[in-house]
Amino acid sequence: MNSVPETSITVEKGSDPLVVALAGVLISGRGSNLQAIIDAIAEGRLRTRVAVVISNRADAPGLARAAAAGIETLVLPHQLAPSRDAYDDLLVRELQVRGVTLVCLAGFMRRLGAAFCNAFPHAILNVHPSLLPAFPGVDAQRQALAAGVAVSGATVHFVTPELDAGPIILQAAVPVHAADTDATLSARILEQEHRILPEAIQLVLDGRCHIDAGRVVIR
Ligand code: GRF
Repeated sequence: MNSVPETSITVEKGSDPLVVALAGVLISGRGSNLQAIIDAIAEGRLRTRVAVVISNRADAPGLARAAAAGIETLVLPHQLAPSRDAYDDLLVRELQVRGVTLVCLAGFMRRLGAAFCNAFPHAILNVHPSLLPAFPGVDAQRQALAAGVAVSGATVHFVTPELDAGPIILQAAVPVHAADTDATLSARILEQEHRILPEAIQLVLDGRCHIDAGRVVIR
């Protein structure tokens, strides 16, 4: 069984030494999951500091949420890099130079390769709007509606180079109603994403997620 290493730095706040791991959040769009992270930190439910928010799109509305919270933002358009690997290297450099030890993909619409995953072992999390392994990839809510499932939900998992296939940390189920549209189902799932993402990050930061034969055991 692999123990996920606890990676943290110690900072001084007043006279209390606080252990704070630095997180990096990658986004491509709206950033409501980023907001859930920001809110959870503000409310003391999540003990980390977001060192940087990186977007591959300059027009991502989530960038304004980061700026409003006083978090450094960085736009790294993927078109700037000559290859997927080169883009991954660029991301790794920008995160590592800021001391980031935990990476959170919050609506980041780019696949990351093995070099990126190896740079942050067992320390990259993704939130996905389905009960994986059902409905990986894009339009997960539409896939669920098309399949006629009665239950769908949200998943937070460790990221591996295989799409939406890493070890599952937390899941939350929601009902799918006959009258649901893409929008109504997405909203119901999103509420759960916002709840389980900060919770999963804290579990990882606390060193409570152990990987056993490709599965997460929480202790
Ligand atoms: C979320 O549904 C997330 O699960 C998926 O993309 C969406 C991003 O939403 N990967 P937001 O940008 O966090 O609001």
